[in-house]
Amino acid sequence: MASLTDLEGRLAGLGLDSPFPAVPAANALTKPIDIYRLHLASLIATTLECDVAAAYEAISTATDLTLADLAVVVPKLKPKDVKDIKEFAVELVQKLPTSPLYAVPYPDGVQLRFFFSQKTLPLLMLPYIRERGTTYGEDHAQGLQDPANPDGGRKNIVVEFSSPNIPGDFNGTHLRSTIIGGFVAKMYECMGWDVVRMNYLGDFGKNLALFAVGWDKYGSEEALEANPLEHIMDVFVKIEADFKPEMDASKQAKNENKSTAEIESQGIFAERDGFFKRLEDKDEEALAFWKKFRDITLAKLEPAYARLGVTFDEYSGESQPLQETMIEIEATLTAKGVLQESDGSQIINFEDHGHRGLGTVIVRARTGSSTYFLRDLAAAVDREKSHAFDKMIYVVASKQNAHFHQVFRTLELLGREDLAKKMQHVSFGDVTGMAPHVKKTMSLGQILDDVAEIVQTAEAEGGKENEDGGDEAAADAGDCEDKPASTGGGDPAAVGGLLSLDLFGKRSHGYAFDKKRMAAEEGDSCRLLQREHAKLFSVIADLKGADGGEADGEDPTPDHAVLQKDESIDLLRMMAQYPDVTASTFKALEPHGLLSYLSRLAEASSYELDAEGDDGGDENGAGPSSAAPEEETAESRKAKLMLYECVKQVLGHGMNLLGVPPIC
Ligand code: ARG
Repeated sequence: MASLTDLEGRLAGLGLDSPFPAVPAANALTKPIDIYRLHLASLIATTLECDVAAAYEAISTATDLTLADLAVVVPKLKPKDVKDIKEFAVELVQKLPTSPLYAVPYPDGVQLRFFFSQKTLPLLMLPYIRERGTTYGEDHAQGLQDPANPDGGRKNIVVEFSSPNIPGDFNGTHLRSTIIGGFVAKMYECMGWDVVRMNYLGDFGKNLALFAVGWDKYGSEEALEANPLEHIMDVFVKIEADFKPEMDASKQAKNENKSTAEIESQGIFAERDGFFKRLEDKDEEALAFWKKFRDITLAKLEPAYARLGVTFDEYSGESQPLQETMIEIEATLTAKGVLQESDGSQIINFEDHGHRGLGTVIVRARTGSSTYFLRDLAAAVDREKSHAFDKMIYVVASKQNAHFHQVFRTLELLGREDLAKKMQHVSFGDVTGMAPHVKKTMSLGQILDDVAEIVQTAEAEGGKENEDGGDEAAADAGDCEDKPASTGGGDPAAVGGLLSLDLFGKRSHGYAFDKKRMAAEEGDSCRLLQREHAKLFSVIADLKGADGGEADGEDPTPDHAVLQKDESIDLLRMMAQYPDVTASTFKALEPHGLLSYLSRLAEASSYELDAEGDDGGDENGAGPSSAAPEEETAESRKAKLMLYECVKQVLGHGMNLLGVPPIC
């Protein structure tokens, strides 16, 4: 990547010879907007004789590009002896020297608004994006232990996500965890971290033990062979029904503040807990049972994950935390007076430790078995040893907010504040109204089949209405030679539809299984991104073809004049914002802002192709391509080609972060 000096050299070529001022918060090498902000900050600092870092902080990026690219919030400059700040803003316009980077600013209340200069924008932005290539939008310094010492090692993170149960259905929360977790992992990679993707299967504990009881009663090897997941769920549903009266009786006793000891020491309770005890005592037969069903489930899950473009470095699970670690944790908690006995179980009462509202949690059950909670504590301690992580993120539904609060607070009570500080729970709302699509026996593969059908039906209906739609470009495009790495292999349209639904709103908002939103190709939609990306792919191929391939003739010098129209300039202005968008997306770990930015970029790209007549109009000369300007030259084609390649690259990069596979 070019250095700051190279960048200064390029600016000198545009008529700017002042070096970049030193502002630690700025990074002109990864964020082109910082070139503009730094330059403007130094103009303001010289004009008003104020601190350049303070001037930099007073400049914000516009959210509405119809108003400006940047805005100086004048009160933030804290000008001395000023009575009327609005008047001062008007005076400042007169005082500021003109610059090749900006058009003349205009005052708007207490702000000064700046548009980038149209003339220099393509000259600055196109080489900037092209030089950075597929790393444009990334900031690898974020993942360094010490940014001042780039050779001093990278930070690593464990991202734990998906984590379905065995036996169990792949429900809405596992689906969302898979999608959001995949996105979180990619965001960290984009910022230069080393990422371990971990799936913490619910492969141990009461559910598996209950299933073992059910297997003895209802299991059939033939049925398992014919339809593994269906049969597993079938057995589980039957044993759950048998167990319900006992569970209800136990719940009622609890509500009446009575001991549950007697109820839980007989019947299915006793059979279940007996099996779990054998499993924890590493009884060979019990372990073989566990392994058999874990392997069957994984064999079914992995191809479904591949369809979503999601991979894991490690299939961990509740079976993995070490017994020794659990015993050590309990010993420390006891020594610190944190564990107490209640009705035969070992519990923590958080109220006693100043954590109001966190209630109590069972650490070890009356039966002597570990709990989900204890296993999570031990898993955290074990993983710290095995992975030496700098950070660990759990991508789990907000239903488990209290659980993770309790886990983190208990680590603090253990004296492991250092470890608790490294952990974060990234939560999300549930999927509602998935029925009738998601039944009790829904697997990830079935969910994807369902979505594929919905999207195909919508496509067939849409195709009838809009015979010469833009999708033809995609159909022409053939194979995407530069398919972003690690995106979905199988059903790009179905994955696009599913992600449109999932990434549409804030993480915390649940959503309903909405066919319309899945099929939509407008608004904030992953399918819109796929369509425009495919269109660009085919237009770029055409433009390259028109010049007989770059390998043949001389590479023409791009004629940037062709990019002076509003549509092209808007694309460049939007692309300048991309690294700021990825930075804020990384901070909040909210994918919807990125989806919305990319959807606007895709729309702007479609306006540009329309305006240029490059949008794949039909071969009979009708449609937009017949309006192509006659004076088109190899040089102007080259400039357009550079612009389109940049747009396609930014779109592709963002799609890859979101997990949206290209359709070409
Ligand atoms: N298997 C759990 C469930 O389905 C999710 C596991 C979340 N991760 C954790 N470390 N507790 O609810």
